[in-house]
Amino acid sequence: MGWTLGNLKNNWNSFGCDVSEHLLLSTSEQLVSLGLRDLGYQYVVLDDCWQQESGRDKHGKLQPDPGKFPNGLRSILDRLHDQGLKFGMYSSAGEITCARFAGPLDHETDDAESFVSWGVDMLKYDSCYHMGRIGTPLISFNRFKTMSDALKATGRNILLNLCNWGEDFVHTWGMSIANSWRISGDIYDSFTRPDDLCGCHPNVLSDPYCIARGPIARIPGGWQDADMLAVGLGGMTDEEYRAHFALWAALKSPLFLGNDIRSMPPSALTIVNNPDILALSQDPHGRSITRVRRDTENIPRGRAVVFLNAGGADLDMTCSLAELFTAFGPGGAAPHVRSDWAVHDLWAHRMPEATAAAILAAATADERAALLKKADWYNATETPYAVGLRNEDPRLFREKIGVVEAGGVLRVSVKSHAARVFRLRRIAKAGEKLKPKSIDRVAKDELQRNKAC
Ligand code: GAL
Repeated sequence: MGWTLGNLKNNWNSFGCDVSEHLLLSTSEQLVSLGLRDLGYQYVVLDDCWQQESGRDKHGKLQPDPGKFPNGLRSILDRLHDQGLKFGMYSSAGEITCARFAGPLDHETDDAESFVSWGVDMLKYDSCYHMGRIGTPLISFNRFKTMSDALKATGRNILLNLCNWGEDFVHTWGMSIANSWRISGDIYDSFTRPDDLCGCHPNVLSDPYCIARGPIARIPGGWQDADMLAVGLGGMTDEEYRAHFALWAALKSPLFLGNDIRSMPPSALTIVNNPDILALSQDPHGRSITRVRRDTENIPRGRAVVFLNAGGADLDMTCSLAELFTAFGPGGAAPHVRSDWAVHDLWAHRMPEATAAAILAAATADERAALLKKADWYNATETPYAVGLRNEDPRLFREKIGVVEAGGVLRVSVKSHAARVFRLRRIAKAGEKLKPKSIDRVAKDELQRNKAC
């Protein structure tokens, strides 16, 4: 259980094929000094175009481009590992990758060994140029399983992130061979663009134009990947980016930053470094939120509630305790409904923009560290989110905005193209003592529940 994949920095959105040793090393320094590594952003992922154009070497091995990586990959990976970071690599279950560099199809064993020799910790495995081995779940499953088996055979712990855009019902089999799987096409830096690779289209199964059919599932311990984050790229409003970030966190999608963090605006930093939201992504239960009401798009799970207003006008939205806990007893019968609940607004306490601006402008890593310390910013390396949540660390629960009384309704106003995100905490009844569960207990309960599923 838990969120071992961590959060990721991925280069595709901002850089396309313009990758290099300098990009990886300067980005990794930023991840550390901006405090992002210590919030959980541990992986640096090199996307497509890292290989030499001439293809495999004379021994049939994949080779990095010597112009982009003059010192090879191993030395970069060693530097990243020394910084407490991990490294993700890209390839495709095809004859060539999407950008037309050599691909591992039918070379899986050799290529898995190359990845291991470089010290890779994660493989993003795409689906371009599949040589016709696509079209049914079994055909795709077998194609991806060959790499999964080859990685396993190396004995190194490598996370496998499938990237077949939701095709061939990957949500039904991805979990058997991989840690996460893409449920949709490539993200686009816009809140409103219609998309035929529409993983969360309401009529996804009946719409003939919907290519990718990977509905949002709430599978514990397997991460459905909604693609990397667009926060900071500039195509959405602040509210839209906050809604996007909160949904990705609550859906337990891997969080891959997709912007250039060496030149990010302070507003973007204050979105992606919000520990209250990150704790939603990293909680020890590892389950995605689910949608309980399609009309108002409330998406509660447990005690977290996300109100998403994707419409063109501001809305007053509601969610009753009876709806929120319907899984524990329909029609308000759940015992939870008989308690009062404190409501915490998880966006109420963003890092002030001035602090973020000062951190970004600071000349040295030491200055940045001092500013983060002064801001008393959360550090998940020191205190994992599971421990912070259990101990009710106030930095993860911030502003209490009110109480929903037993049997009551949470009412909020939500701007157009925005999401509001709350954590509800049960208030002890007179004479009752609420004891936090031990971490072991949380893990055991979760295991029990998963077995029951
Ligand atoms: C796409 C993939 C993108 C990026 C790109 C590289 O198929 O969905 O995330 O990896 O290939 O060529």
